[in-house]
Amino acid sequence: MTDQIIADQHQPLVPNRTVWLDWFGDLDVIALSERPVPQAVDDEVLVRVAAASINPVDWKMAEGEFPPKGEDQLPYALGRDVAGRIEALGTRAHNMLSVGDRVMAFIDFDRGAQADYVVVKAVELVATPDEVDDVTAAALPLAAMTAWQGLFDHGQLQAGQRVLIHGAAGGVGHLAVQFAVWKGATVFATAGEGDLDYVRSLGVERAIDYKNERFEHHATNLALVFDTQGGETQVRSFDMLKKGGTLVSTLDPDEAKGRAMGVRTVPRWLAQPNAAQLGEIAGLVAVGTVKVAVDRTFALDRVRDAYAYTRDEHPRGKVVLTMAGE
Ligand SMILES: NC(=O)c1ccc[n+]([C@@H]2O[C@H](COP(=O)([O-])OP(=O)(O)OC[C@H]3O[C@@H](n4cnc5c(N)ncnc54)[C@H](OP(=O)(O)O)[C@@H]3O)[C@@H](O)[C@H]2O)c1
Repeated sequence: MTDQIIADQHQPLVPNRTVWLDWFGDLDVIALSERPVPQAVDDEVLVRVAAASINPVDWKMAEGEFPPKGEDQLPYALGRDVAGRIEALGTRAHNMLSVGDRVMAFIDFDRGAQADYVVVKAVELVATPDEVDDVTAAALPLAAMTAWQGLFDHGQLQAGQRVLIHGAAGGVGHLAVQFAVWKGATVFATAGEGDLDYVRSLGVERAIDYKNERFEHHATNLALVFDTQGGETQVRSFDMLKKGGTLVSTLDPDEAKGRAMGVRTVPRWLAQPNAAQLGEIAGLVAVGTVKVAVDRTFALDRVRDAYAYTRDEHPRGKVVLTMAGE
């Protein structure tokens, strides 16, 4: 990615506050660094960021708990989800897009969206529907791609099937529940006690309190388990699947256990940017079929507080950084 300062008269020579990681550690390693404004080339666009959400992968990366981006790649910028306006176009982006367009995107690991400016590839972005504000748009991409690809691409979920979704009030889970209900599946969902009414409101068959109830008593004969927890929750979930059922995990699936039990597991996978899917999902949000839960917004200047809140305070849905203030 080009990292040169834009110097022509059409481009702003302004600070580009960027959430930046020089080394791994606790959250105090996260810094706001003023970086050069990057330049869009070819089919890329430069986006003036309005909002960028935080995902668990961001604080896991800060803690050095995300092996694909090891120490040898430091320093780097953080953030995968972005919403904002196009500020400048690469030479091959002119046909499809215009300066000033509102866009949202799920960007790859080679850039960081938690910044005033970020370069986005044309294949990563979609137009933000008029009905969708920037905070909502920024909350959506990574979590939505994970839920959609996990349920439909990897899990092959069909109407009428019984599915158990763990972590149903989380960033990924609350979208997975709504996608599965929209598809016509019968949805069982685990969540914390304080989130049960919310999860019920999403149209599930049964909301299960993961601390005080055994999901085994309520969710049996399943075609699919969508696991966002791993560990003991995943182990116990295998028994709830019918023969030939599928366990999809956003973490590490126990493939050997799956084989032993006649259950299909999907090898460790990472959600991929997919503009066609993002566009379809944004359409569902625009018409109100899917409602994105934004627990809280933080101004970019308070990024460490925002990360700590996301990791430690059990938000419902998503936490979003806003560049202009809270
Ligand atoms: N493979 C991929 O591409 C991919 C993509 C996105 C996310 N992920 C991973 O998937 C996981 C979930 O992501 P997320 O964004 O949804 O995280 P999140 O927003 O932190 O949500 C996690 C949810 O799980 C709930 N929970 C905690 N313990 C539970 C248990 N024992 N049973 C059921 N629910 C439980 C939490 O509820 P309380 O807050 O009430 O405890 C919370 O609502 C993370 O580990 C993330 O790194 C992987």
